[in-house]
Amino acid sequence: MRTDIPLVSLSALDEKRFGVKTAKTSPLRAGDMGRVMDFCAIHRVEFLIARCPSDELKAAQEMERLGFSLMDTLLYYSCDLKKRGVPVDSAGPALRTAVPGDGNAVREVAKEAFRGYFGHYHADPRLDRDACDEVYTDWAYNSCISTETADTVLIAESPEGGIAGFATMREKSEGVGEGVLFGVAPEFQGKGIYRRFMTGGMEWCIQRGLGSMVVSTQVTNTAVQKVWVRLGFEPSHSFYTFHKWFTKA
Ligand SMILES: CC(C)(COP(=O)(O)OP(=O)(O)OC[C@H]1O[C@@H](n2cnc3c(N)ncnc32)[C@H](O)[C@@H]1OP(=O)(O)O)[C@@H](O)C(=O)NCCC(=O)NCCS
Repeated sequence: MRTDIPLVSLSALDEKRFGVKTAKTSPLRAGDMGRVMDFCAIHRVEFLIARCPSDELKAAQEMERLGFSLMDTLLYYSCDLKKRGVPVDSAGPALRTAVPGDGNAVREVAKEAFRGYFGHYHADPRLDRDACDEVYTDWAYNSCISTETADTVLIAESPEGGIAGFATMREKSEGVGEGVLFGVAPEFQGKGIYRRFMTGGMEWCIQRGLGSMVVSTQVTNTAVQKVWVRLGFEPSHSFYTFHKWFTKA
């Protein structure tokens, strides 16, 4: 029995953003569905975001039977920094740490980088497109102004002194650092900035005494997975994300 995080809970943030009563689950196993559906009925949930480990096929199949739709597959990779070390990245741009005053500029970069992204929100045609984009822009902004969202944000400056990209980092659990949300403005993509963010994130983990680093993305995001593999990250685990609507479109 998992007691640390609730199996399913209401999401005030999503409700405010999308204007429908929303709930989210923690990773589900097959036997959990009854409790999740009861919770949704009691709380009159209109929209449910449910995730299950991709090796919990029975849970995934049960969701299919109940009319849930698959929205994305999330892959996690990890790197044992004690074993691998950080590859030297002398070609990449210099990085600095964000200050709260960078929030608006980081939001603008996120707006360009994540417009029409392929995460589970954008995959759902019932969700407003601009509101889906705001998931990422608000998240990037909040990472700069609140340590509840990120422990640090790395910034790559453009040659003109603006912001070319950002990378948010947090301590995920004891000894484990996580690279969370990374974005590079379209005009600066393909120049190795993302790779430099990854090595910068690995350095940040080592400086904080964190022995490993994890990252995650949609299975379709091959650009970042190529960089991870080249830096010595290895596949770790994965999740399916489903959406269930309890109201008619
Ligand atoms: C993914 C992203 C961070 C890559 O940033 P970047 O600075 O352009 O990455 P790099 O220059 O280090 O290149 C990394 C690899 O990805 C490839 N790549 C970069 N942008 C790409 C794109 N839009 N489509 C496909 N491949 C891309 C590069 O060509 C390179 O591969 P190569 O060495 O085989 O040529 C950037 O495109 C982005 O912000 N995308 C939208 C948000 C996103 O996906 N964030 C990551 C998940 S949180």
